Amino acid sequence: MPQSTGDPAGVDLFADEYVADPDPVLRALRENAPVHHDERTGLWLVSRYTDVRAALADPVVFHPGNALTAITPISGEVMRVLARAGKSVTLPPSPTTSRPGSCAVCSASARWTWVISTATRMSGVDIPAGAQVLLMLAGTGSDPEVFADPEPLCPGRKGARRHLAFDYGRHLCLGAGLARLEAAEVLRAVTTAIPEVTLVDPDPPMLGLLSFRAPVEVLVRARTADETSRPGA
Ligand code: HEM
Repeated sequence: MPQSTGDPAGVDLFADEYVADPDPVLRALRENAPVHHDERTGLWLVSRYTDVRAALADPVVFHPGNALTAITPISGEVMRVLARAGKSVTLPPSPTTSRPGSCAVCSASARWTWVISTATRMSGVDIPAGAQVLLMLAGTGSDPEVFADPEPLCPGRKGARRHLAFDYGRHLCLGAGLARLEAAEVLRAVTTAIPEVTLVDPDPPMLGLLSFRAPVEVLVRARTADETSRPGA
C-alpha cells in the first residue's frame, strides 16, 4: 500500500516506504492525528514529544506491556526455532498484518508498546483502559515544537540532550553512556583515519524496527584531492 503523508489512516508501519523515510508519516501523525488508533496493528500511535514524554514519566497509567506480545503474526520458521528452544510466545488475538518474507526478528519485535491501566486522555483523544500504545520515539526527535528545523541530524544543536532515543524515566536505557561512548569513538577513529570522507551511497538500505531505524551499512570513501579543493564540496 502506498504510504499516505496527509491521511494518517493510510499508515503502514511495515511498508518499505515507511522504513526508507518515515518523516512524512511521522509529520502527518503529529500534525493531524497525534494519538491515532492504527487498524492494522490495533495499536494506539502516540507521536508528539510532549505526549510520549508524559507517558514515559507515568508508570501508573502506562505499564510496559511489551515483553512477549507480538504485534504481527510470527512466521512458522521463527515459531519452530522457539519451539525447539522450549519457548512459547503470546500471539495477538486477531492478527491484521502479515508480510510474508519480512524480517523474522522485526516481525516478532514488539518493544516500546505500553498498556493503559486506566482510561486516559491525550492531545484531546480518549484512550480506553487496556489499550496498547506505541510510543513513537522516532517521531519525537523530529518534533518541531521541541527542536527547531528538526529533521537534519545536528548532534551539537541547542537542546539536543532532550531527545528520547534512550527513553526517559524509569526505563531509561542502561547502556546509554556506553552507546554514546562507542558512537563518539567510532566517529573519532574514522575521521582520524580518513579526514576527508564522503558517502559512497547517500541512500543506504535501512533496517526498520518499530522505534528504530538504522542503515544496514554505511559505505564511505576518501575524497579525491579534486573533490577536497572544490568550493562547497
Ligand atoms: C544507540 C544505542 C542504543 C539505543 C538507541 C538504546 C535505546 C534504548 C531504549 C529506548 C530503551 C528503553 C526500552 C523500553 O523501555 O522498553 C533501552 C533500554 C535498555 N537498554 Fe538500550 N539502547 C542503546 C544501546 C544500549 C547498550 C549498548 C546497552 C548495553 C550495553 C543497552 C542496554 C539497555 C538495557 C539493559 C535496557 C533496559 C532498561 C530497563 O528497562 O530498565 N542499550 N535502550
